[in-house]
Amino acid sequence: MLGNLKPQAPDKILALMGEFKADPRQGKIDLGVGVYKDADGHTPIMRAVLEAERRMLDSETTKTYSALSGEPDFLKAMGELVLGAGYKPELTAGLATVGGTGAIRQALELARMANPDLRIFVSDPTWPNHVSIMNFMGLPVETYRYFDNATRGVDFEGMKTDIARAKKGDVVLLHGCCHNPTGANLTIEEWAEVADILEKTGALPLIDLAYQGFGDGLEADAAGTRLIASRIPEVLIAASCSKNFGIYRERTGCLLAQCKDAATRDLTQGAMAFLNRQTYSFPPFHGAKIVATVLNSPDLRADWMAELEEVRGGMLRLREQLASELRALSGSDRFDFIASHRGMFSRLGAPADKVQRLKEEFAIYMVGDSRLNIAGLNDSTVPILARAIVEAGI
Ligand code: LMR
Repeated sequence: MLGNLKPQAPDKILALMGEFKADPRQGKIDLGVGVYKDADGHTPIMRAVLEAERRMLDSETTKTYSALSGEPDFLKAMGELVLGAGYKPELTAGLATVGGTGAIRQALELARMANPDLRIFVSDPTWPNHVSIMNFMGLPVETYRYFDNATRGVDFEGMKTDIARAKKGDVVLLHGCCHNPTGANLTIEEWAEVADILEKTGALPLIDLAYQGFGDGLEADAAGTRLIASRIPEVLIAASCSKNFGIYRERTGCLLAQCKDAATRDLTQGAMAFLNRQTYSFPPFHGAKIVATVLNSPDLRADWMAELEEVRGGMLRLREQLASELRALSGSDRFDFIASHRGMFSRLGAPADKVQRLKEEFAIYMVGDSRLNIAGLNDSTVPILARAIVEAGI
């Protein structure tokens, strides 16, 4: 029977990881998968995470099952981190999930349970796995204009026109901050206009918040999400802890569902717990406990925030450095957008053959759509990349 399976194309981002690993060239540069790396190319365990694990080791006495929807202290801490003072626990259902991807999957399952005829509107482009999951689930996907290849900014007029086509019962997937793969983001004024449209159409926003703290800071990166949640009664938020806590392999994330009233919240919470049970029963505990321990211990929280700021500041400096290097080498300001993009990624807007050339000739790996991971750079590789970009005629 298993011989009937169709071969699956490997995920492009994950395949690139493998290709990079197998490349024997010295000095190769990995700007592919969205993982933070320090100047030595190492993905460190954050100080507060390590200390939280030490405390957990000292205090935990059992490995029995936890709660089907996730630990309440984790979900509350995440609700507060994401929604700030606007978090309404009595109206918000919460679900611990297997990473941010698990939260996206459960959000889509939940939305489909509520409306089997829904359509999902996604930005063009979006994280490829968004579309892959939707296709696999058989959900109709509509795209809305987002990235303007001429300006490397957001085509906001196009976006507004296109998301206005989403009706009540449809889902509009938005990136809360640090848009993946482009690095181009909405201003808070633009978020307000998106809220106007959602208010008018009644479409359900699903916000993917995978990089809170990597763009303009923990609060600023949640500002768009909070604005939507303050204006729209029903909102789904898929939050990942992989990046901002650096706990990629622990698979920690959550789905928050803000509901219009307490009865809907209870209904939604029940449906979400059911979804966990049907998919994997109990969600992973360890990473969620780390996050709850860090967020609920004032000393660890302060240290985590400080380290996250160091990470964010480092990426911003690399952006500035790369933009200025490219300004000097290209004699133009056409790469200045790199300094104004936010988060881990920037899309260069280069054609696939040039991305290929960077890989083959210069051993520089970026995703085929010319998305580069800023955190894969350091002071000495920035000039190498800048030279390669100019030499490759990008
Ligand atoms: C990425 O976009 O590189 C990350 O979100 C990692 C992944 O799973 O694709």
